[in-house]
Amino acid sequence: MANAFFDPGDQRAAKVRDLFSRIAPRYDLINDLQSFGLHRYWKRRVIQLACPHPGQRALDLCCGTGDLALGLVQHGAQVAGLDFSERMLAMARRRKSGSRSREPEQTQHASLGPRFVCGDAQRIPFSDNSFDIVTVGYGLRNLASWETGLREMQRVAKPGGRLVVLDFGKPDNAIWRGLYFGYLKLFVPCLGRIFCGNAGAYAYILESLKHYPAQQGVGAKMRELGLANVRVISLLGGVMSINYGEKRSKAGMG
Ligand SMILES: C[S@@+](CC[C@H](N)C(=O)[O-])C[C@H]1O[C@@H](n2cnc3c(N)ncnc32)[C@H](O)[C@@H]1O
Repeated sequence: MANAFFDPGDQRAAKVRDLFSRIAPRYDLINDLQSFGLHRYWKRRVIQLACPHPGQRALDLCCGTGDLALGLVQHGAQVAGLDFSERMLAMARRRKSGSRSREPEQTQHASLGPRFVCGDAQRIPFSDNSFDIVTVGYGLRNLASWETGLREMQRVAKPGGRLVVLDFGKPDNAIWRGLYFGYLKLFVPCLGRIFCGNAGAYAYILESLKHYPAQQGVGAKMRELGLANVRVISLLGGVMSINYGEKRSKAGMG
């Protein structure tokens, strides 16, 4: 199983898409179990940082079953969720119709969206300077090139637009990092085996993390791309991370 998803070549994206399509029905349940429900809190932090206002346009990349997209819509933003797995999108659309039927008619921000779109985060099917907010939760790490994903986020953001990235991090403290990698190596694949019949899909988290520079690398790349107000927020001692940056307006470019 080692490096199964990181063999070079074109099949990489196909393997990742196939993996998420297989685990889609149990994805939300395992997310809750493996994070002890904390991912909900971290996603609320992302939405807080994205600071959505009614009428603003937001894009959530690698939207999966739609947590962030549905959260952004609650603040009145016009939201598009993009993912390349139709099965993950089907779960998101089902949740969207569920949340709409539970809302009183006058508060149905959801009537503005989210619109769930099938597409590749490395070639975002939207024009330059389209969105006030671009978020990605646990997505950048999965791309064949996370740098391309980040550049695409910057391209589709409007000048002044806010980019927010949530993902697994890498703690600085060696002992804490060892414990956390052990947890990802042993406990998380067990959950995958029990609830999805697939340990390999969840061993993939640690595998992908080894190929991802996490919070410090993403922060450095944001600065290199010329984003403004770059912030690196480490959560739970660096186990999780949020990267934040703003696209400079032309006048502010140095
Ligand atoms: C770990 S899930 C994250 C889902 C959701 N954002 C969340 O926070 O729960 C990663 C998602 O990224 C999607 N994905 C991976 N590579 C992609 C790509 N190149 N383009 C679009 N979606 C991609 C997968 O299909 C999957 O739904």
